[in-house]
Amino acid sequence: MATRMLKRPDAPGTAINKIESIVTQPKSEPAKPEPTPNTGVGGSSLDNMVAACASELMNARTSFHKLHLKVTGDGSFSAHTALNELYDAIPEFADTLVEGYQGAAEKILKYNEVPSRTLDTVADGVGYIRDIYAIINKLQGMLPYSEIVNNLDLVKDALNSAKYKLLFLK
Ligand SMILES: [Fe+2]
Repeated sequence: MATRMLKRPDAPGTAINKIESIVTQPKSEPAKPEPTPNTGVGGSSLDNMVAACASELMNARTSFHKLHLKVTGDGSFSAHTALNELYDAIPEFADTLVEGYQGAAEKILKYNEVPSRTLDTVADGVGYIRDIYAIINKLQGMLPYSEIVNNLDLVKDALNSAKYKLLFLK
């Protein structure tokens, strides 16, 4: 049997040097961010994503409020309360997102009217929470403004808390 040549490991210390440190915050404040370029009606795709996310949050507030009034049966008091906490918190999140972005990017966004989602059951509510979480997650990956990314973490936190209550509390 042929002996396989084992590759000699790199010099000591090399491997550890290859590990890149994960930095979530810039070490120093960067120069003032450039406003995103306008690429047509409604601005850049990032502008449109922010506006769409804010519109979704505003719609979600109403959808969760209606579900809060609709839930009945086993475990519904817990769901009623969890949904109340969520829809109470959402308007401020939407406002913070838009004001922060419009200030950071130095532009006013364009808001399209989109129909709000109908939620009939707690399962519908949980599904919608997951969808909003995914929208925010995607937006966070695109945003060059760490302060807005951090604010959006608070929205995800509130969504997680509501989802936990809807899934596990009765
Ligand atoms: Fe109520």
